[in-house]
Amino acid sequence: MRSGNLYLLPILALAFSLGVVAQTDYRPSRDNLEARRWFQEAKFGLFIHWGIYSLLGDGEWVMNNRRIRARDYEKLAQFFNPTEFDPREWVALAKAAGARYITITSKHHDGFAMFDSQVTDWDIVDRTPYKRDVLKMLADECHKQGIKLFFYYSQLDWHHPDYYPRGATGHEAGRPAQGEWDKYLDFMDAQLRELLTNYGPIGGIWFDGMWDKPDADWRLAKTYKMIHDLQPQALIGSNHHRAPLPGEDFQMFEKDFPGKNTAGFNTTEVGALPLETCDTINNSWGYNFTDNGFKSTRALIHYLVRAAGSDANFLLNVGPMPNGKIQPEFVARLREIGRWLKQNGEAIYGTRGGPIAPRPWGVTTQKGRTVYVHVLDWPDASLILPALGRRINRARLLSDGSAVRYEERAGELLLHIPPRRVEEHDTIIVLELAP
Ligand code: GLC
Repeated sequence: MRSGNLYLLPILALAFSLGVVAQTDYRPSRDNLEARRWFQEAKFGLFIHWGIYSLLGDGEWVMNNRRIRARDYEKLAQFFNPTEFDPREWVALAKAAGARYITITSKHHDGFAMFDSQVTDWDIVDRTPYKRDVLKMLADECHKQGIKLFFYYSQLDWHHPDYYPRGATGHEAGRPAQGEWDKYLDFMDAQLRELLTNYGPIGGIWFDGMWDKPDADWRLAKTYKMIHDLQPQALIGSNHHRAPLPGEDFQMFEKDFPGKNTAGFNTTEVGALPLETCDTINNSWGYNFTDNGFKSTRALIHYLVRAAGSDANFLLNVGPMPNGKIQPEFVARLREIGRWLKQNGEAIYGTRGGPIAPRPWGVTTQKGRTVYVHVLDWPDASLILPALGRRINRARLLSDGSAVRYEERAGELLLHIPPRRVEEHDTIIVLELAP
């Protein structure tokens, strides 16, 4: 800001405070509190980034990164024809992976609605040869197969003319330098109303993009209230990289465990709400056909376990291909995670972060009087932990139930890990605590 503009500071400060006022008088309904508990125990979700950007195979930021003008970007829509899309297959894959919910992009930063919106024709039904509302197809299938569906919604919009004044991105879309912010927010609320009305009960809304204009008045109070009025159980979370704002129901971290900031943009403040962290299988959210940097199944399982040990869910992303298929490298890993969860899910689902904070060697999770010690990386035959402060009745391996030798000493708990029983990904020792 030039010094001549310093008089703007108080105005900006006011705008900032308006932006974060959010739904201050919010009192979550009983259904909402119930949904939060469900969420906290669900532990694993499948994130899906899918849009017309998938056609270019270069991630969901391609419009901005390649400085494509909105007018040119619009041409993409006529080629989006995902004839291989089978919602039954996607939902079945999510379930086979052990995911308890799906979070899918309803509109990403390119502003393109993957649903039948009445407030714009910049949507899949009006602009593509496919002409079908894929969110509706997926929502129906999710309801049928009993898995919750959340909608990702980008508040940031590189296409809408009224997304003005612009934020940090989207400057090269060739839009005239004018627009009415309030009209944009009305448009956004109208689309959210559609998402909360036409797709049956949904898990919640996963907001993203507020970071583009962190100081703007996003009218969050109004938007959040509308969502909670329409579906009180719907959980609101926002990837604004700050501590949760009033009206939100869960806190998310992008590519980081709660309280960590290796990504460089996350807050280290962890609030009291249910937690979630998301990450990619390769290095892209949207389909990227040259990105072969796939994480191993082991690394993904470790991420899931470490998230659980940090009291957080793991939302693992796939970017389906433009034909509607999910690429085989993703499918293979998801199925392997699912197989692992079938064996070891007891130590993940329904647990909370355990009594010992995450350590380099692994984490603990807990369910009632049962503590699960997840040994991820520990080369030695015994492991010393801080004492749990409760007597232990029994210690056994989750894998085969065999007894694990342990010693309780002053201030310490010594676990003997039978070397021949060390598991490929995670050796889980179950400690049953005395009442
Ligand atoms: C970031 C990216 C966005 C992606 C999201 C997922 O906000 O801008 O493209 O959808 O992360 O966490």
